[in-house]
Amino acid sequence: MSFIEYKGFGGVLLAADMLGDENDPAVLLVPDIGQDRTAWREVAEALVLSGRRVVNLDLRSGGELTPHGEDLRAVLAQMGSRPVVVAAGRGSWIATRALALDGAHLAAGLVLVDMPVDDDAIAGGVAARLTLPTLVVRGGFAPAQCSAVSDAFNAALPIGESADINECDLELASDRREALLGQLLEFLERRQPREAMEFKAGSDPRTLRDAMGCFATGITIVTALDAEGMPTGLTANSFTSVSLDPPLLLVCIANTAGTAPTLREAKHFGVNVLQIGQQPTSNRFAAKGADRFANQPWAPGQTGVPLLGGSLVSFECQRESLHEAGDHFILIGRVVRAQFEPHRDPLLYFRGKYRRLHFA
Ligand SMILES: Cc1cc2nc3c(=O)[nH]c(=O)nc-3n(C[C@H](O)[C@H](O)[C@H](O)COP(=O)(O)O)c2cc1C
Repeated sequence: MSFIEYKGFGGVLLAADMLGDENDPAVLLVPDIGQDRTAWREVAEALVLSGRRVVNLDLRSGGELTPHGEDLRAVLAQMGSRPVVVAAGRGSWIATRALALDGAHLAAGLVLVDMPVDDDAIAGGVAARLTLPTLVVRGGFAPAQCSAVSDAFNAALPIGESADINECDLELASDRREALLGQLLEFLERRQPREAMEFKAGSDPRTLRDAMGCFATGITIVTALDAEGMPTGLTANSFTSVSLDPPLLLVCIANTAGTAPTLREAKHFGVNVLQIGQQPTSNRFAAKGADRFANQPWAPGQTGVPLLGGSLVSFECQRESLHEAGDHFILIGRVVRAQFEPHRDPLLYFRGKYRRLHFA
């Protein structure tokens, strides 16, 4: 995070925190009057993790509030690219005043969170002149005291003249910050996509493989005891939970996998969901010829199946059914016992690469 000062209208200095990569599309956060930059901090950090550059602005100068649209216009003019402006509370009206008339030249979009009722501003027709895509969010921070806003706002906007107004109400959301972030990301992806959409299509194996790889998954190690009672297993990301009652799950195993004959016969098998520290384990259980259980802590479960120590979750399953499916077979297991660790992050797989989750 770096610190920057913008020159407001008339030369006042406005402080801002800058977060994220300067090549990412920008979001300008404007807090409510009386709030400082910490009000937006968590949202700011989450937006950065979602690929946005964030400027978190303080509309106070030397402790004095400068609630003028002109100051915000001056900041926008210095930003170099057109950000999406996300403003809270009374900051919404400052942003609305700043962007009425020619806002589309200065900003790619406008998000108004918990905008209070301001009859003067509505009567003044400020809102009616907005021409940029706008999202009105109610109940983003506090229970909305502003339920009438959207109606009043919409009434002030002659239908058909506004570029596009959407609205949403987060009052019923159990986690408001998460719900607000979800709405922001939906708006940003639509109005200010990080990259232009580029679709690839085809039915050749490469295209289909790449298309499948767009589904982000966790990673598991499927384990069983072979005919000699030795532990065996392979890396698999084709895991899916199937049913809660009875508790069923499935994995798809390649007919050519070295462990396929064992898994076809096994009455019981284990599915170990890997955590962030088990990437080498995933590689070892996918590598041909590796001694997979050398240096691998494991313990037999109730049914004897090898369960890998330190996994995020280990499911112990009784074989329910097996279905042939092309060059794979689908192994369905009935879960007899599950053990999990509730704090660690999962190891993820997406587009052919390991990924890590950032809780944003
Ligand atoms: C991330 C990842 C996911 C995989 N998912 C599966 C899967 O779902 N089913 C499968 O049969 N093989 C899957 N594989 C490949 C097997 O792990 C690998 O082919 C197998 O372990 C090869 O060794 P083997 O033939 O000696 O058993 C996956 C490999 C990786 C790296």
